[in-house]
Amino acid sequence: MNECETKVKPLLFNPYGDDFNSQLTPVKFFESPLTKEPTGLFTIFEPMHPIIYEFVKLQKQRLWKADEYPIDRTREQFDQLDNIDKKVFEYTLSFLAFLDSVQVANITDMEVVYNMPEYKIWGATHKYFEVEHSIAYSNILYGLFRESNEEVKRIFYLAKNDPELRHRNELIANNYQKLFDLLWNGLKNVSAQEYARTLTTVFAGTYAMEAVTFYMGFKTIEFYQYKYGVLPMTNKMISEIKADELFHVKVMSTIIKTLKPYITRYISEMEFDEIVVGTIKSYVEADLRFYQSILAQNNFGITQKQIENYIKYLADLRLKLLGYKPLYGVEENPFEEIDRLYGYLTSHINEGKKEAFFETKSSAYLSTELDDKVLSTFEF
Ligand SMILES: [Fe+2]
Ligand SMILES: [Fe+2]
Repeated sequence: MNECETKVKPLLFNPYGDDFNSQLTPVKFFESPLTKEPTGLFTIFEPMHPIIYEFVKLQKQRLWKADEYPIDRTREQFDQLDNIDKKVFEYTLSFLAFLDSVQVANITDMEVVYNMPEYKIWGATHKYFEVEHSIAYSNILYGLFRESNEEVKRIFYLAKNDPELRHRNELIANNYQKLFDLLWNGLKNVSAQEYARTLTTVFAGTYAMEAVTFYMGFKTIEFYQYKYGVLPMTNKMISEIKADELFHVKVMSTIIKTLKPYITRYISEMEFDEIVVGTIKSYVEADLRFYQSILAQNNFGITQKQIENYIKYLADLRLKLLGYKPLYGVEENPFEEIDRLYGYLTSHINEGKKEAFFETKSSAYLSTELDDKVLSTFEF
C-alpha cells in the first residue's frame, strides 16, 4: 500500500488529501486513508452538506451583542421581588451561566472532531454565540451585584457550591468529559466503537441541553415579567438567547440525523438510538430532581406539577423532532399563555412580535423574519 494511503495520524496540512471527495465524513474517523481526508485548505466551495452552511449563514444574520443592553436599572427591578423569588432567580442565573460555560468548553472539542469545513465553520459560529450568551449572564449578574464582588461570586459559584446544583452540573459536564478525555489520551488509544459511542453521547447531550435543559430557566425569567412586570431588560436578553437556542435545536437535530449513518458504521442503529434517547432522559431526570429538591419548599407562583409537566412536555416535543417516540405522554404546554407573550417553543415568534420587537431592536425584528425563513426553508 502506498504510504500516503495509510493514515498513521491525521495531518493538519494533508497534501495527499482531497476536499471534494464524496467519501469525506462530517467528523474524523479512523480508517479513512489520507487520500480520502480533507487537505486542511479551508474552502466552503460546494459544501458536501450544504444545509449546515445554510445554518451558518442564517445564524450570522442573528448577530446581537449582549453589551448593548442597558443593565443599570436591573437592581431596582430585582429589589421588587420577594425573598423566595430572589432565591429562585439567583439559582436560575447560576445554572444558566453554567450551561453556557460548559457549552463553550464542549464546542471546542466538537470543532476538533469535525472534518468537513461546513461543520467546522458551524462549530466556530455556534461557539461565538454561546460565548455571547455567557457575556449576557455575566452582565446580568454584574448589573445586579456590582456593589459586591462577593455577591457576584456567591451566585456564580452556586453552580459548584450548592450540592444539588453541583450534582446536576456534574452529570452534564461528565457527558462531555468523555470526549475531552478521549482527545486528551489520544484518539489512537481508543476503539472505533468507543469513539462512536462517545460522539453519540456528546451530540445527544448538546441537543438535550439546547432542547430541554435551558427552558425552565428561561420560563422563570419570563414569568417574573409576566407576573410582576419586572426585569424587562433581563427578559429581553433572555429572549435573544432563547431565539438562538431554538435555532440550535434545529441545527443539532439536523446534525444528529446527518451523523447517524456515519456513526452507525461502528455501532448498531439500535445502540445509537438508545444512547440518544437515554442521554435526553438522563438530562430530563436531572432537571426534575433539581427542581424538586431546590424549589419544592419555595412556592414562587409556578407549581411543582407545572414544572414537571413542562419539562416532560418539552422532552417529548424534542424526541419527536429527532424521530423518536415520546417518553412521557404530556401533550399540553402548562405555560401556553406565557409562550403566547414571549415566544413559542418551536419558533421564537410571539403574537405581538413585529410591533414589540420593531420598536425596540431592529435586529430582533430581523430575527423574526429569519425564523420565518428557517421554518419555510427546512422541514424540522
Ligand atoms: Fe447558549
Ligand atoms: Fe445554544
